[in-house]
Amino acid sequence: MIFPDDFLWGGAVAANQCEGAYHEDGKGLDIQDVMPKGILSGPTAEPTPDNLKLKAIDFYHRYPEDIKLFAEMGFKVFRTSIAWSRIYPNGDDAEPNEEGLAFYDRLFDECRKYGIEPLVTISHYETPLHLAKAYNGWANHALIGFYERYVRTLFERYRGKVKYWLTFNEINSVLHQPLLSGGIMTPREKLSLTDLYQACHHEFVASALATKLAHEMMPEAKVGCMILAMPIYPLTPAPDDMIAVMQANHFNDFFGDMHVRGRYPGYMKRYFRENGIEIRMTPEEELLLRENTVDFVSFSYYVSICEGRGGENGGGNILGGKKNPYLKASEWGWQIDPQGLRYTLNRFYDRWQKPLFIVENGLGARDVLVDDGKGGRTVEDDYRIAYLNDHLVQVGEAIADGVPVMGYTTWGCIDLVSASTAQMSKRYGFIYVDRNDDGTGTLARYPKKSFYWYRDVIASNGAAL
Ligand code: BG6
Repeated sequence: MIFPDDFLWGGAVAANQCEGAYHEDGKGLDIQDVMPKGILSGPTAEPTPDNLKLKAIDFYHRYPEDIKLFAEMGFKVFRTSIAWSRIYPNGDDAEPNEEGLAFYDRLFDECRKYGIEPLVTISHYETPLHLAKAYNGWANHALIGFYERYVRTLFERYRGKVKYWLTFNEINSVLHQPLLSGGIMTPREKLSLTDLYQACHHEFVASALATKLAHEMMPEAKVGCMILAMPIYPLTPAPDDMIAVMQANHFNDFFGDMHVRGRYPGYMKRYFRENGIEIRMTPEEELLLRENTVDFVSFSYYVSICEGRGGENGGGNILGGKKNPYLKASEWGWQIDPQGLRYTLNRFYDRWQKPLFIVENGLGARDVLVDDGKGGRTVEDDYRIAYLNDHLVQVGEAIADGVPVMGYTTWGCIDLVSASTAQMSKRYGFIYVDRNDDGTGTLARYPKKSFYWYRDVIASNGAAL
């Protein structure tokens, strides 16, 4: 496998799934603090003790130890998010919280100490709770202004420390999970299509604004959108099934098209027309979208799904979809399809002609801690090695196909709390964290077998695959 010399190997996490310290040093509450069951049930009135994310893996205090382990694996890049409510505790505050800003200074400095480039998600499923409650999140136009204030503060503070920025995590998921993704308190079934697409519009404008500001304030910055990628295959060769696939793709491609082409595509205008959806937008917003397109497209990749008549619904991922009878699934029902990653890379590059960055990929699995025979403990996670190896081989194929791939960050490079089911037992990491679903555990870290495997892959720049 031939990977470019400057390929960015690394791992990814999100603040709310690993930091904990949910109300330390001036942090305000965010939506995750009242979502103890992930997407499986609605929000609670207050943070509750069963919410694993309140403490998570205590990355907030233990990050030096964790970054050191990432450096031992040879990470070139580390993707994390900034918790908006550490910087603006309520989201609409006039002044930022200095202690929150100082935390990320320390974190980015720690990365840089080892030559690890931070890759920052500005908003990763952690809208400040006040913005959700008082404004109904991104359903409200006012969020654009609060986001603008937030990103200005970030760019001002971290220019020179952070070069790569992502504006919204899995932006297309807002259509399916309005609370998680958009901080929208109105339940999905009570939102009109106009409300939903108006919220998307607000995020597109905010994203374009962030791109504009980043380019003005940090000439070396590279800004990407972030899409939940999921190839869709027809269940049969029936032309109707193929059209169903095309239409299903549109609802995801729309988000990339907006970021790369900067205008509403014809297929969406038709959908809006036929469904009585009217988006309120000003000529200034239209111009902003057109003139501030992204530098690269990043995406998460876990599963592929099927579309068409019949078939069975598959479980698992937050977008749903039908099962592919040719694929095996993880314990959580997420269908495993390494070739789908090569297909996605080719399809996205054909469509957008932009550099691509795989910023999430990995296997959520139950791990068993065993003695390592040297007085320590480890996990023999050959299943995770096989998953990652197979996917990286397909990344290599896509690179050979001529697709410019900037880098690859595995999801949950250290065990953390899962987003959809809010469990610790759904583990993705190269590093085991001793914490259980009932909240017990010492929080000690143990490198798994995959830790050494990834170290060798990075050291050989992919030749060890
Ligand atoms: C993506 C999210 O949807 O998938 C992450 O960006 C999430 O936040 C990841 O953790 C894996 O999903 P889960 O539900 O297994 O944690």
